[in-house]
Amino acid sequence: MKYGHFDDERREYVITNPQTPWPWINYLGNEDFFGLVSNSAGGYAFYKDAKFRRLNRYRYNNVPMDNGGRYFYIKDEDTIWSPGWKPCKTELDKYECRHGMSYTQIAGAKNGIEAETLFFIPLKTWAEIHKVRLSNTTSEVKKIKLFSFMEWCLWNAEDDQNNLQRNLSTGEVEVKGSTIYHKTEYKERRNHYAFYNVNAPIDGYDTDRESFLGLYNEFSAPQAVLDGKPTNSEAHGWSPIASHYIEVELQPGESKDYIFTLGYIENPEEEKWESKNVINKKPAEAIMERFNTVEKVEAALADLRSYWDNLLGKFMLDSNDDKLNRMVNIWNQYQCMVTFNMSRSASFFEVGIGRGMGFRDSNQDLIGFVHQVPERARERIIDIASTQFPDGGCYHQYQPLTKRGNDAIGGGFNDDPMWLILGVVSYIKESGDFSILDEMVPFDNDMSLAKSLYDHLTISFNHVVNNLGPNGLPLIGRADWNDCLNLNCFSTNPNESFQTTENNTEGSKAESVMIAGLFVVYGQEYVKLSRRIGNDAEADRAQAEVDKMVAAVKARGWDGEWFLRAYDFYGNKVGSDENEEGKIFIESQGWCTMAGIGKEEGMCEKSLNSVKERLDSDYGIVLNNPAFTKYVIEYGEISTYPAGYKENAGIFCHNNPWIMIGETEIGRGEEAWEYYKKICPAYLEDISELHKTEPYVYAQMIAGKDAYKPGEAKNSWLTGTASWNFYAVTQYILGIQPDYDGLKIEPCIPADWKGFTVKRQFRGAEYTIKVINEAGVNKGIASLTVDGKEIDGNVVPIFESGTYEIVVTMG
Ligand code: BGC
Ligand code: NOJ
Repeated sequence: MKYGHFDDERREYVITNPQTPWPWINYLGNEDFFGLVSNSAGGYAFYKDAKFRRLNRYRYNNVPMDNGGRYFYIKDEDTIWSPGWKPCKTELDKYECRHGMSYTQIAGAKNGIEAETLFFIPLKTWAEIHKVRLSNTTSEVKKIKLFSFMEWCLWNAEDDQNNLQRNLSTGEVEVKGSTIYHKTEYKERRNHYAFYNVNAPIDGYDTDRESFLGLYNEFSAPQAVLDGKPTNSEAHGWSPIASHYIEVELQPGESKDYIFTLGYIENPEEEKWESKNVINKKPAEAIMERFNTVEKVEAALADLRSYWDNLLGKFMLDSNDDKLNRMVNIWNQYQCMVTFNMSRSASFFEVGIGRGMGFRDSNQDLIGFVHQVPERARERIIDIASTQFPDGGCYHQYQPLTKRGNDAIGGGFNDDPMWLILGVVSYIKESGDFSILDEMVPFDNDMSLAKSLYDHLTISFNHVVNNLGPNGLPLIGRADWNDCLNLNCFSTNPNESFQTTENNTEGSKAESVMIAGLFVVYGQEYVKLSRRIGNDAEADRAQAEVDKMVAAVKARGWDGEWFLRAYDFYGNKVGSDENEEGKIFIESQGWCTMAGIGKEEGMCEKSLNSVKERLDSDYGIVLNNPAFTKYVIEYGEISTYPAGYKENAGIFCHNNPWIMIGETEIGRGEEAWEYYKKICPAYLEDISELHKTEPYVYAQMIAGKDAYKPGEAKNSWLTGTASWNFYAVTQYILGIQPDYDGLKIEPCIPADWKGFTVKRQFRGAEYTIKVINEAGVNKGIASLTVDGKEIDGNVVPIFESGTYEIVVTMG
């Protein structure tokens, strides 16, 4: 069953039934100021950090689902309704939500009134615009009442929901004209306030929640709306809100527009006040002035559209498959931008108070984003590397507002350092900017300890070399990519988190075959990079370490039919046929086949055949098999999940592309493509009621074959799945790979594909790459021409400017 449809022309997903199986959301904003908005206008805005600078209150895990947002109430005689269906939930005559590129339009109609709302954050602006157009489609004059409503969050979202003994006394507001200002804590340590304005005279307002809503009313029936008049309340503590009230008269056929602006202001210390206790509103008024007419708002929206035209113009696919086109050209790239911006902080599954930017997560997010805005990728790399420790280990996360490592989580995840090599190498291959390697980058944010970024890569590489276990494989530390394989944890206390509990790494023999594969892949990249910059001695040294690792994996990381996953604390095999449960794991199959370990001996093929046989399912590849059915204290969190969910045999979509890439390494185009389609949201649109999350973005996890409801997804949006799938499909299936010397072309596709065309901007030039597969092969290039002239090899050179026609004939 579907709840809407794609509108590719406008790059929108159009939801036509508001009762989606889970709120289907969108993101507003691209830099600094962001908003989350659901298909019924739920969600919240924040400045940079969803924990520390949240503007409006949102109620996670509440009933009914999705409470708090930018709500509008229309009172038309005795009927009260909202254009986004919620919060009133009055049945609408028409409902349509269009989620587009950084904007959302929600339109509702009832009894001859149409209300179209548009939500977006103009470029380079710390404010959300909510444009409301009310139209009278009847032949009579209509008199209606419009109420806006949002509830202020007292900035720190975690404290806001916990520290009530203080917070119910601190709230402060000011009202001036049609603007409601939220200034809690502004008079002491904060230099910021927020405001909610409408560009029209108002007929009343409320700023105190209880006065507006009534103490025991639901959001669906605020007392002021039921009464048809606001109370002009002024909040003193309790729960400050912002609600405007406007009486609207509409002639037959008439429309009126109202522009609401929800903004965030920071004032320098000496400019905080206009007079005693009266905030300096000038900067807020300047923002309102910028968007106070429909023309100005439309111009800002047009700028936002051309921003996206430009970003999405960098990689454009024309294939015979509409679903593939829309994922590659629109939604997958869009999700990559969102994951780049948010890391794993704020979604409808991540509450925006726990996790900041992840070291491994943000590095991986770069691979799907770096072609869009390489300059921002560069800045991110420096931020991430600055949280590294001098020994190469790293803080696992950092807070975006402070950019400092997060002490609560700490470090010790031994895969983390290797991902920095991936991030840096991807950036240089895309941009050609080797100068980033010379940037002086601090350790632990301490500039006095700074070394060049290249040195950071060296110590990242060495961190693995210096931390090998008894089998010559990398020690796992707290955990590797799989946060739930806690081989040194032994937790018996349900009150502690597996991620932060004391680890018994002392004397541990726990080693990770996954990190071994990761080390071979990015160790080889480090070797190549070192040669590139003329550091041959270092390249030779590193190559020798990589070779040793390959040998160690072949000798002690192979189980006969697949790669082992790990060795546990005691040195016992994990992910072996010898084990009762968890005989085979996906991660080491992915990394060791991507690394090509034992390819000549047939190991890669055997490993991938085992994946097919044991891990593949109707909805994707599960993480491990058989699923754990009992708690294994030596393994930790993985065995706490019910079978088929999350890291315990769920389809953890992030790692499926590793297998797709592995398949392309051995030339199996059909397999790679089948795996791609299985988890790709656009192909799942028809089973939305089962899949549950948005059909336009990837989810982190789909319940696996052992689960109660296989195929049901959770945790959409903020997942490394976005970047890895974009990377796998564009670089390994379509086979267009940015490289130091140009664009390397190496498609691996189903034999029955006749071809496809990609327009790719790269290092200042535009390449139209036409791939022809009349020969019906999976992989292999018979000839490659640039503007009609055949070239040797499969790397199209860097031209720096101009447009070029590339014809690739497979065969
Ligand atoms: C989840 C992991 C996640 C980790 C983060 C675990 O409970 O299963 O997917 O990475 O928490 O802290
Ligand atoms: C989600 C985390 O964000 C990521 O860092 C981790 O690799 C996966 N879970 C797997 O545990």
